[in-house]
Amino acid sequence: MPSPTLLSLFATVPLGIESLLGEELSRLGASGIALERAGVRFQADLKTAYRICLWSRLAGRVLLPIARFSAPDEKKFYGGVRSINWSEHMKADGSFAISVTSSQNEKSKLQHTHFAALKAKDAIADQFRSVTGARPDVRLDRPDVRIQIHLEQGEATVSIDLSGESLHRRGYREQGAKAPLKENLAAAILVMAGWPQISKAGVGFVDLMCGSGTLPIEAALMSSNTAPGFFREYFGFLGWKQHDAAAWRELKQEAMKVRITDKKLLPRFFAFDQDSFTLKTARENAAEAMVDDLIHFERRELAEAPQISPNYGEAGLVGCNPPYGERLDDPEKLKALYRLIGDTFKKKASGWKGFVFTGNLDLAKEVGLKASRRFPLFNGAIDCRLLTYDLYAGKRE
Ligand SMILES: C[S@@+](CC[C@H](N)C(=O)[O-])C[C@H]1O[C@@H](n2cnc3c(N)ncnc32)[C@H](O)[C@@H]1O
Repeated sequence: MPSPTLLSLFATVPLGIESLLGEELSRLGASGIALERAGVRFQADLKTAYRICLWSRLAGRVLLPIARFSAPDEKKFYGGVRSINWSEHMKADGSFAISVTSSQNEKSKLQHTHFAALKAKDAIADQFRSVTGARPDVRLDRPDVRIQIHLEQGEATVSIDLSGESLHRRGYREQGAKAPLKENLAAAILVMAGWPQISKAGVGFVDLMCGSGTLPIEAALMSSNTAPGFFREYFGFLGWKQHDAAAWRELKQEAMKVRITDKKLLPRFFAFDQDSFTLKTARENAAEAMVDDLIHFERRELAEAPQISPNYGEAGLVGCNPPYGERLDDPEKLKALYRLIGDTFKKKASGWKGFVFTGNLDLAKEVGLKASRRFPLFNGAIDCRLLTYDLYAGKRE
C-alpha cells in the first residue's frame, strides 16, 4: 500500500507553550517539527492531523495551508484567492467562513482584515457562480469549511482550518464563570507543574481555588487518558470535501477504548472554592466532561483548607490560580490571600509539589516560598507566571 501523503501543517498555541506543543505533536505522530512564535509547523498525514485535533491538549487551531501567493494589492489578492480550485474543498450548496489575520508590518489596504475577508469571499463566490451558477453561503458559526488567511509582507497564506474552532473549546464547558482559564492553557500549566508524572504515581491533585474547575477537569482528563476533543461535536474537517470519514471513525472508536474508567486505577482529585455558585458551574462542567465522579468539589475558604498531606497521599500536586487584582479587589486583602497560599502549602501539604499561576508578579512574591521554577506564560494579553514549589516542611524564604 502506498504510504499516505504527508501534509505540511501549522498549529497555533498560546505564547510560551510552543516547545511543549512541539513535544506533544511529535508524540502524536507528527514529524518535521519547527517552532515559531505562537505556533508550530509540522508534517503529518491526514489521519495524524485528525489525531492531533482529537488529542492535542495544548494546540489552539490546526491549519492546513493550501496556497501561498504574492498579494501586494487588492487585485492580486482577489486573483490569488480565485485561482485556488475551491470545488476541491467545498460544495456549491455548502457554507464557509473566512477569517483574516495580518502581521503588523502589512502595509497595504489589505491590512484591514475585514476588507480582505470580503474580497476573499467575493473571489470564492465568483468562482462558484461562474462554474456552477450556484455559490456556497457564508455562515460564521460552525460553517462546513473555515478558511484562514494570513497576510504578511505582501504575501497571503490561505489555509483550511481543520479544527474549525479553537481546540481549547473542548465541548464540556458551556457556561463561563468569572475569569476561567482557557482549557489549553490549563493543560499547559499542569504539564509544566509535572502532573503527567505525578499522576502516574497515582497520588492526588488539589486545586485550592478551582473557579469553574478547569484545572481539576483537565487534570482528570489527562489521568483518565480521555481525548480532550472527545466531547466536541464540531471540527472544521467534518464538512470539508476531502474529509476521510473512516479514519475519523477509527480514531473516535480508539479514543473510547483507551479511556481509563476504573477509579481504583486513578489518582484522587479535590477542588475547593469559596463561592458556591462558581462550584455549581464547576460540577456541571465536570459532569459534561464525564469526570464528575473523580473530582470531589467542596465549598471552602482557603483558610479552612483541609490537611492535605498525608491525608490525600504523600506526594501529590496542589495549586491554584488565585484572583490577581481586578478593579474591585482590595490590594491588601489580595496580599494576605497570597501569604495564606504560602502558609497553606507549607503547613498542610509538605512533601507535595505546589504551583501558583498568576498575572500579578508582585503578589506572587507574597507567597513567601522559594519557587523551584518560574515559567513565563500569557493568559490572553496578560503576562503571567507559573511558579512551582517543592514543599518541604521548612522555613519561609
Ligand atoms: C481566577 S479564579 C480561578 C479560575 C479557575 N482557574 C477557572 O479556570 O475557572 C479565582 C477563584 O478563587 C476563588 N477565591 C478567591 N478567594 C478565595 C478564598 N479566600 N478561598 C477560596 N477561594 C477563593 C474565587 O471564588 C475564584 O473562583
